[in-house]
Amino acid sequence: MNFKKYTSAALLCVVTFGGFAQVKKQGAHANKMDQFVSQLMSKMTLDEKIGQLNLVTSGQATTGAVVNNGVEAGIKAGNIGGIFGLYGVDKVRKVQELAVNNTRMHIPLIFGLDVIHGHRTIFPIPLGMSATWDMPLIERAAKIAASEATAEGLNWVFSPMVDISRDPRWGRISEGSGEDPWLGSQIAKAMIKGYQGTSMTNADAVMACVKHFALYGGAEAGREYNTVDMSLIKMYQDYLPPYKAALDAGAGSFMSSFNTINGVPATANQWLLTDLLRKQWGFKGFVVSDYTSVNELSDHGLGDLQTVSALALKAGLDMDMVGEGFLKTLKKSLSEGKVAKAEIDMACRRVLEAKYKLGLFDNPYKSISAEREAKNVLTNANRQAAKETAEHSFVLLKNKGQLLPLKRSGTIALIGALADNHSEMLGTWVIAGDPNKSVSVIDGVKRAAGPDVKVLYARGSNFTDDSLLNERAWFFGMKQQRDDRPAQDMIDEAVKTAKKADVVVAVVGESANMTGESSSRSDISIPETQQELLRALVKTGKPIVAVLFNGRPLTLTWENDHIDAMLDVWAPGTEAGNAIGDVLFGNYNPSGKITATFPRSVGQIPIYYAHKNTGRPFSGKGNAKFRSDYIDISNDPLFPFGYGLSYTTFGYSPVKLSKTNLKGNETLTATVTVTNTGKLSGEETVQLYVGDPVATISRSVKELKNFKKIMLQPGEQKDVTFNITTQDLKFFNNKLVYDWEPGQFNIEIGTNSADTHKASVQWVK
Ligand code: BGC
Repeated sequence: MNFKKYTSAALLCVVTFGGFAQVKKQGAHANKMDQFVSQLMSKMTLDEKIGQLNLVTSGQATTGAVVNNGVEAGIKAGNIGGIFGLYGVDKVRKVQELAVNNTRMHIPLIFGLDVIHGHRTIFPIPLGMSATWDMPLIERAAKIAASEATAEGLNWVFSPMVDISRDPRWGRISEGSGEDPWLGSQIAKAMIKGYQGTSMTNADAVMACVKHFALYGGAEAGREYNTVDMSLIKMYQDYLPPYKAALDAGAGSFMSSFNTINGVPATANQWLLTDLLRKQWGFKGFVVSDYTSVNELSDHGLGDLQTVSALALKAGLDMDMVGEGFLKTLKKSLSEGKVAKAEIDMACRRVLEAKYKLGLFDNPYKSISAEREAKNVLTNANRQAAKETAEHSFVLLKNKGQLLPLKRSGTIALIGALADNHSEMLGTWVIAGDPNKSVSVIDGVKRAAGPDVKVLYARGSNFTDDSLLNERAWFFGMKQQRDDRPAQDMIDEAVKTAKKADVVVAVVGESANMTGESSSRSDISIPETQQELLRALVKTGKPIVAVLFNGRPLTLTWENDHIDAMLDVWAPGTEAGNAIGDVLFGNYNPSGKITATFPRSVGQIPIYYAHKNTGRPFSGKGNAKFRSDYIDISNDPLFPFGYGLSYTTFGYSPVKLSKTNLKGNETLTATVTVTNTGKLSGEETVQLYVGDPVATISRSVKELKNFKKIMLQPGEQKDVTFNITTQDLKFFNNKLVYDWEPGQFNIEIGTNSADTHKASVQWVK
């Protein structure tokens, strides 16, 4: 393999973007850190070093104590390097005091938590957040999360999850930014900037943990924790870029993933954790395992706990989450010559360096302030930011006859179990968010509707009547609320309510924990009970708006054929109801665009816009014999990547190019004129794709390379110009060299990946 190009490009970036002065400053800082850590380590025993590699949970103490006896004893013995799952200034202070005052070396602990989409103020789930295509908004969300998390004593977040996924069966697609490596990379960068700020020593900054390294989203059949087997070209071109982008943005730590990669589990994968991450990409931080992923190497078939712990350390893993394989076996392995002292030292050094970078040796209590805890969380400003982010994340999938925005008169029938609920608003992976602080849809709609609208409500159905789905869709003890009435009674009540109204707003879809970890689904439609409800509502003949909650692309073919308007709101977070109310009534005109393709049927999965042409291409609707298609369904998705409507409409001119023949490092400019052809002001995300139809390998039909967001008043026109350089033409060839090849390139600009204007250029070296 030739990785040279990638590596030298990364080095060049450090020098040019950072500038020489900064490199010098970083060097001085690194020397000071080196000296400090070397001195510290020279005084540490082997046991104390191994203790630093051990990450535990708080132990769920129930009576009085902050951590359970085992954890307390472990801290005092110097057997613990970090804790996760514990927050709140009093608790964190007490536990930090245990480490700082009661251990021989006085080394502070690092405090981590799964702060995935907000800490106390909950933002939309990451897949929803990605639909904003708005980097400042995303960075601000991460910054607020960091500020709230640090206000409660935390200094490390297990986020961002940057796993690309092209399989909506996988429950964790909800935790990522969708299918596209370029967009995923922009989002990864924005999140690292938001979390880590200008310096991790700042009281309101946390260290990010980029996860899950790597390729977890490529799990076979979308089944949780399943095998990943992938060609190197696909890996480099489509799946690895967001991890690399997060690293380049300065991410302090990485988390290894549960899955195997071409036969070797990530947690014991030397190629991944050392050759790629450290030697080729130059990562200087530390790598933590996922929850018991060291122990799970035994189930992967790699040997007993001692063997797998040694394998993981040697592969480049520094910290062991929960499983205590390192704690229990590394000393023995060292005495038996199965690991080297230098390997333990290196891991310990990296963990201590992380604490140094966070400023914990200067002040182990640096962000522990009762005042900040009382004043800085769930503030009005934070809630306002969450609301704004939610509004920008909503995707208008359909709007027949301009049914939306709703009129502020008449009667609305609000139907659905999700319409009158608080906990489901927050989405999956919420630990510190309080459901009681979230705004329900009914409350938000009533507020936005104002006094002249009558809002009726009926539950209509449970989330699901499938006992298995009902049983399994839970997380952290949170279960779906059920109504024990017979299903038909609830439907009858909903139909009666609908008949009294001018318009029906059905709030349907997935409950929060039908996605997320360990929530893969083989059927990604709206649960059957709710579909029955929708069918009954359609029969009333009333105009129907579906407000869709979902943590993944759903199959919505029937719904798209029968329902007048569909607004996808994902799981919007604390301000759910307020955001939904304001968008339904047009106080904000939706602008979100989906970042993962919505298939027509699960049979089309994996389905993504950047597919290959094949030797017998067929695109569009229908099918044709002896072409690459199905005989029972067309190839095209229900909603393509980048799709999303507005209450207004936009017209695109053809693409105007500055030239059609280019040489070497020239810059091409491509311009379209976008016109607001509707009656409302609105925001559009103008997308640039580049296609490379002739190359030494078969390339994706197109790849996203840039986008611009513009705001247009009715009738207003704007020219949107993209500069394109050979950077945008590069790809990993079959020798894994990252370069461009001369020839024809297609420049496509449009409103989504399937609806573009196209022009071509010739570009020679
Ligand atoms: C998940 C990680 C998470 C960790 C700690 C694991 O099960 O895969 O994403 O950070 O638990 O809660």
